[in-house]
Order: sequence, then structure tokens, then C-alpha cells
Amino acid sequence: MKREPWSAFDLDRDQPTTLQSQLTERIRQAIQRGALSSGTMLPSTRELARELTIARNTVIAAYDRLLGEGYLESRPRSGIVVGEGIRSSDWPKASRTESNVGRRSSSCKFKFDVPLPKPFRPCQPDVELFPLSFWNRMRNRVLKRFGAGLLHYQSAFALGWPDLRYALAEYLKTNRGVQCQWQNIAITSGSQQALFLLGQLLVKRGSAVGCEDPGYEGARSAFAHAGAQLRALEVDEVGVVTPKNRDRLDFVYTTPSRQFPTGATLPVARRLALLDYIRRTGAWLIEDDYDSEFRYSRPPLPSLLSLDTTGQVIYMGTMSKVLLPTLRIGYLVLPESLVTPFQSLRLVLDDHGPMIDQATLAEFIKQGGFFSHIRRCRKAYSARLEVFVQTTKQLKLPLNFLFTDGGMNQTGLFHDPSVDDHTVSKALALADLDIPPLSQYRHNKKSDQPGLVFGFAAHSPTVIRTALKTVSQVFEKLGLFPGSR
Ligand SMILES: Cc1ncc(COP(=O)(O)O)c(C=O)c1O
Repeated sequence: MKREPWSAFDLDRDQPTTLQSQLTERIRQAIQRGALSSGTMLPSTRELARELTIARNTVIAAYDRLLGEGYLESRPRSGIVVGEGIRSSDWPKASRTESNVGRRSSSCKFKFDVPLPKPFRPCQPDVELFPLSFWNRMRNRVLKRFGAGLLHYQSAFALGWPDLRYALAEYLKTNRGVQCQWQNIAITSGSQQALFLLGQLLVKRGSAVGCEDPGYEGARSAFAHAGAQLRALEVDEVGVVTPKNRDRLDFVYTTPSRQFPTGATLPVARRLALLDYIRRTGAWLIEDDYDSEFRYSRPPLPSLLSLDTTGQVIYMGTMSKVLLPTLRIGYLVLPESLVTPFQSLRLVLDDHGPMIDQATLAEFIKQGGFFSHIRRCRKAYSARLEVFVQTTKQLKLPLNFLFTDGGMNQTGLFHDPSVDDHTVSKALALADLDIPPLSQYRHNKKSDQPGLVFGFAAHSPTVIRTALKTVSQVFEKLGLFPGSR
């Protein structure tokens, strides 16, 4: 008895690819090989499902796909047949290797790691503290409430889900002293996208953009990509030094609440001096307030924007530190004149960000999940900071820690200014630690003040103690302790 080609379709339930994709691929290959020729009638979906002992829906979906691709046709009274004019000779004969590659890719066994941050990679929140089940409940709630509307294109919301923009405006009013209308808030895919878009919008080829030195590399690269000429802004023990009047800048990027990476907080007088500088020069200023929620013993200082009267300050925040980095939700408070141009640019980029997550976040804030999560993190991180400080003191590490009150990182400067912090960081990496050198954050990647930047927030007290002991052992081997050379 003649065996039909489909009785030889070998579907493997243990493969990572779905049965539906496997079946689609087997039929496609059979047509290409000529085993199923033009006009051949395929079994009904019910018959094939029975033959292969798979669900009928799986066969329906595979047929649908091949109908869409033109391999199959639906004929009245005959059912599903192989498409007219499709001949096996139309396909180039695959070489042995090609067909092997095809097989391999159709049964892809690609495995990939999803790594967790090693101690002490900076700027990492503890994602284990995140109330995922509460979040999922909020997600289900908004999906139910807004139904299909939440699933369609929503170009009218290029600046973000209105409820979220409103909730953030309220949050900024009470917590950061920012008096803004919700219509001035733009939701972005993390603050990195905000920096990129602002670069595209405001930076012209050759514009002079002042960035803190040391400072956040992501800002420098966004502006450099837009054609800016980067200027290094000096950072002292309290933060960015106000540029001189003769240093004409078109743009200033700064982290006044917690200078990145030193952790310094810019006092009010210096904030006012900075605002005075932009008033006199007409420069734009971006205030990056990336982790101001985490101040442990004192309330945070009001934001720079709350002191501004120029209308040239753009405030930027992110959910990456306070909630989860993979959420990719950041936000801007835009001056009135930039709202429409920013919206137009966002439409060019991707229409709008993911609405389900934005609506979920709005509900999460409204129902109090956001504030209780901040409280939980503050408590855990301040206890971890305490363990970090005590352990570094016990181990007498040859670093001067700035020990700033807050944030997620602590920067230590080597007592010995001749230390090459890149070399030390590489040696630490061999011991499975991720502690970047301070010079990495410098404009020229060199530093006369070598140091290391430690992120402590994502790790339990036990991990902090153990990892710091490893740091001490690596230092010992490198002869970094006084008298050990
Ligand atoms: C100072 C600073 N600003 C902005 C960001 C970017 O955050 P996002 O994840 O929102 O792009 C980071 C990330 O580490 C940062 O350190």
C-alpha cells in the first residue's frame, strides 16, 4: 500500500519548536522536494490530526500559514490542495550542508544564559523584592477594564498612557516638588531612549554639550551620536562645578540629586548657580534624577526643575532603578515648547511604547504598590549599605569611600593615586566580581583619582560580606594593602 508523505512526518514533542511550526516546515519541505506535487489534495484537518496524534487546531494553524504563503490553496469541494504552478524544480537544489543547516534551524536547540548581575555591578536593583503577583493582578485588571483598546495601535498616546502620565505628575508634585501638568510628561522606553530622542531633537552637528566628568556614559554616547562636541564638566566633592560664562554650552547634562558615579548631592546654592548659568547662556539643561527615591536618612532635596524659572530644564526619571530595568519605562517632564516636537519624533520612531505595561504601572501606582515597594527597597538597601560600610571598614580596604547617604552604589578612591584601576577591575573580574574602574566613567578613560564603583543594592548581606572578602584577597594578591608590596 502506498504511504502518503504525511504519514512520515516526524514531529518531536521534546523539541523547543512548537508542533505547529514543525508541521508547517514538514509540509513546506515535502512540497519543495516534490513529494507533494501541485494539485495534490491534503487530508482534512481532522484526519491529519488523528494520523499524527496532535490537536486539530495545530493542523488548522499550519494549513492557514501555508495558505497565506501560497504553498496551499483552498478549493471548493476538493478541500486543501498544493498550490497551482508550484514545482519542485522551482527551488534550487539544496547542498548537503544547506539542507543540514535548514534542519538544524527548524529544530533549533539554541540555548542561552540569562545571567544575573555579579557583585558589585553598579545600578542594579534587587528584582527579588519586586511584588510580581501584585503587578500581574494589576495587569489583568487593566486588560479586563480596557479590553481590545489596550491591544490596538494607539498613536494618540505617543507620549504615553494618559493615566500613567497623570499618576507620575502627581508623584513628582508630592515627592520632587515639581509643579507640572500631566500633558508635559512623555513616557519613553527607559531614560536612555529619552536621551537619544533629546539628542536628535535638540543637538545640532557641532553643538557643545557639557557632561559631567566622571559621568554617565549613556548620556555621552547619545549626544555624540547626534553630532555633539562633548565638553567635560568638572565634578568636585558635592557634584558638578558650574561652567564659566565664557564656556559657551548649548546643552548641560547633570545628575544633581546623586552625581553618577560619585554619589555626591549638589547643594541648593550650587543648583541655583547652575540655573543662573543657563539663564545667562540660553543653554538647555537635562536633570537626570535616576535614583533619587533612595535616600535613607534624610529626605531628598527638591529637584532642580522645582527651582527653575527659565523653562530650559528638562527633567528625566526612570523606573529602571526603583522597579525593574527590563520594564524599559522612563519619563521626561518637557517644557511646553518641546511637547509637540517630541511627540512628532516619537511617532517617527515607534508610534508609542508598550501600552499594557504602561497601563499596568498606572494602576500599580494608583493602588499603592509603587509606594510600598519604594519603602520595602529603602529598608532593605539601607540595611545593605550598613553591612557594606561596616565590612569595608573591618577589612581595612585601601580605599577612601565617599559613603554617600543613599543610592545603590558606593565609590571608593584608592589611597594610592598611582594604582591602575582598570588592571584592578580586570583582576576582580577573574574572581567573578563585576566592579568597574572609576576611570571607565571618565571622558578620556583615564583618571588621576583611581577608584572602583560598587553597586550594593542587589545583594543580600551574606553575599556582600563574602564578595568583599574576595575583593580583599584580590587586593592582597595585587599588593594593594600598605606594606604588602
Ligand atoms: C545616571 C543614569 N542615568 C540613566 C540611566 C539609564 O536608565 P534606563 O534604564 O532608564 O535607560 C542609568 C543606567 O544605569 C544611569 O546610571
